Parts: sequence; structure tokens; C-alpha cells
Amino acid sequence: MTFTDPKVALITGAARGIGRGIAEQLLADGYAVMIADIRGEAAVQTAAELAAHGAAVAACQTDVADPAACQAMVQRTVERFGRLDVLVNNAGISKPQPSLEVSAEDWRRMIDIQLNGVFFCAQAAGRQMVAQGWGGVIVNITSINAEAAFPQRASYVAAKAGVQMLTKVLAIEWAEHKIRVNAVGPAHTETEMTLQHIRSGRIQLDALRKRIPLGRLATVQDVANAVSFLVSDKANFITGQSLYVDGGYLAFGYW
Ligand SMILES: NC(=O)c1ccc[n+]([C@@H]2O[C@H](COP(=O)([O-])OP(=O)(O)OC[C@H]3O[C@@H](n4cnc5c(N)ncnc54)[C@H](O)[C@@H]3O)[C@@H](O)[C@H]2O)c1
Repeated sequence: MTFTDPKVALITGAARGIGRGIAEQLLADGYAVMIADIRGEAAVQTAAELAAHGAAVAACQTDVADPAACQAMVQRTVERFGRLDVLVNNAGISKPQPSLEVSAEDWRRMIDIQLNGVFFCAQAAGRQMVAQGWGGVIVNITSINAEAAFPQRASYVAAKAGVQMLTKVLAIEWAEHKIRVNAVGPAHTETEMTLQHIRSGRIQLDALRKRIPLGRLATVQDVANAVSFLVSDKANFITGQSLYVDGGYLAFGYW
């Protein structure tokens, strides 16, 4: 392993959506990329599509809800590429339900993926980054829901708010190891997760566009650009922060 090797980024939930967009951007930025996803075949397919552009990309099947799998995912990344410089905790699910009806199983699954998984992936990556000795960068994909409450999303919102505070704790704890930890919080983004809610009528697109000062949903590229900045040396003195990619959603309190 030498400093001339390309830097390596590991992205969870990168088979599609925001994670895939981040993978494409970090490949363009010169990173070798590991695409981790619970849907192993989809991860392999995505990696194959991106590798067609000549990029150093690999895939691994991982359920981030399983701490042992998080550790194994980091090990596989280091076995494949020799080092780990960036972890993007992006994997997530969305399952809106009335709070009076949420089952214990659904509650636990959401917290296991969206909060516990972020911690155990960060812990596994942090151990590797400390052992390497030159540090690294972790970016947690949160949401405007780390700040803004939506009905029927208690577990999702609680998890995202938890990750926002987890980001601060890990940032101050691991600063001495030269590990920076930040969060990127998108508003509604044009992915399958959002399209499902639009198709079901849960999200009214016209009303939502009017509620966002910049008048549109976020694109995957908008989110990937923020991640690209935060992992770069241009953000060398930024840690413990949440950067909202929301078109002004959180700033707007008029109605
Ligand atoms: N789409 C939005 O509007 C929006 C807004 C704010 C935040 N986010 C967050 O961005 C992240 C990505 O969302 P998206 O819209 O791209 O969703 P998506 O559903 O399009 O993609 C999520 C990916 O995560 C994978 N995944 C799910 N559970 C997993 C697990 N246990 N282990 C590993 N991989 C798993 C899925 O297979 C999928 O490939 C999520 O954390 C989500 O909460 C999304």
C-alpha cells in the first residue's frame, strides 16, 4: 500500500438512487469505489455498468443492520483495494405508517438500518482508518427530517435526528485520528424512494414544489456534489457539520 494508490470510497446502498449517484461522482473524482448493498445482484450490476467506463469499481452484498456484515464489508473493501479513505453511510429505507399502528418489528428494522447501521459501519471504517494512520472521511446521508418532523415517519425521523448527533460525537472523538465526520441532509430527491410516494399519492408534487423555495426536488447530482465537496481537501477544516441540500426547505417558515 502506498500513497500513490487511488483513494478508496465505500458507499452503502449504492446499487441505485442517491448512493449510485455518489458512486458515479466519486469515480469521476478519481476514487476507487466499493458499491455495497443488501441487493447483491443489483450491486454487481451497477458496478458492471460503472466499470464499463474504465473505473476501478467493485461490489459487495451487505445488510448494514448486521454489525458483523459491516465489519466484513470494510474488510472486503481493504482486501480488494488495499485501503479505505471514505465511507458514505447512505443505505436506507422509507416506510411511512401511522404511529399508532407501527409494529415493533418495523420500528426495530428502521432503527437497525438507519441508525444502528450507520454507527456499526462508521465503527468498522473508523477502526480501519485509525489502523492505517492517515485518517479518512465519513459522510452520513441524513435528511431534512433530522430537523423537520413529518407525520407517519416517527422511526425514520428519530433515526435521522440520531445520526445528526452521532455525526457530531464521532467528529469530536475521532478528530485526533484525522477522521472527519459530516452529514448531508437532502430534501425530497428524485429517486425510486420518492417516486413510490408520489405514485401512491402520499406526496403531492405540485404542493411540494411550492413549499421548496427553489421550486423543485433535489436531483441525485445535487446530493452527490455536496458529498464530493465534503470528502475533498477543500473541506479539510469542516467536521461535525450537517449540510442540507434542500433548496431552502428548512429556511422557509412562512407557511
Ligand atoms: N429520496 C429522498 O427523497 C431522500 C431524501 C432525504 C434523504 N434520503 C436518504 O438518502 C438515502 C438513499 O435514499 P434513496 O432515495 O437513494 O433510496 P433508494 O431506495 O433509491 O436506494 C436505497 C438503497 O439502499 C439499499 N438498502 C436498503 N436497505 C439496506 C440495508 N439494510 N443494507 C444495505 N443496503 C440497503 C437498497 O437496496 C437501495 O439500493 C437514504 O438514507 C434515505 O433515507 C433520501
